[in-house]
Amino acid sequence: MSAAATDRALRDAFGCFATGVTLVTTHWNGQDWGMTCSSFNAVSLDPALVLWNIRHNATSHQAFVHGGGYTVSVLGSEHQELAQAFARGTQAERFAAGEFVRLDSQRLKLASALAWFDCKLYQTVQAGDHDILLGQIEHYGSRPGKGLVFERGQFAVDTLETGAASTSPF
Ligand SMILES: Cc1cc2nc3c(=O)[nH]c(=O)nc-3n(C[C@H](O)[C@H](O)[C@H](O)COP(=O)(O)O)c2cc1C
Repeated sequence: MSAAATDRALRDAFGCFATGVTLVTTHWNGQDWGMTCSSFNAVSLDPALVLWNIRHNATSHQAFVHGGGYTVSVLGSEHQELAQAFARGTQAERFAAGEFVRLDSQRLKLASALAWFDCKLYQTVQAGDHDILLGQIEHYGSRPGKGLVFERGQFAVDTLETGAASTSPF
């Protein structure tokens, strides 16, 4: 297989893993920065840690690495257009696509997020062409609602009952 074909095959294999979708934001150099992110995940309860991965050549890479922290807004089923808006265009165009609330950290969170986590940067791990940004949660919240799902390059909606108490043993 050529390098390009291998790259495509690997992307296709990664894409089989269905994820949720988030917006990650930071405030750096007097400006708001944000992008769509599906690599978000929970890491630890004590201390409360999360992570996500940022591409080295993202234009907001410097902002997220040097911004001191980030805010994650988990997207609901009604947020597909926002997910698309935050993966293209200027930062001003991205934030104009939704309603945001400024937190005490100065970072913006999506007003209607299903869940949100305001984090200080805990550790940065260089990993190939991405950096893993571990964050320690300082404030968070959540509400009932259906999550936006991303699988094989397409958006979908989960089929769970909304607002039901968690039955997971984990
Ligand atoms: C569903 C979805 C998930 C994404 N997840 C990530 C991610 O986890 N990390 C990343 O670096 N880019 C991710 N991207 C791509 C960025 O959102 C996109 O490249 C964005 O334009 C980067 O912004 P910037 O170059 O202005 O910093 C994702 C895009 C989409 C549509």
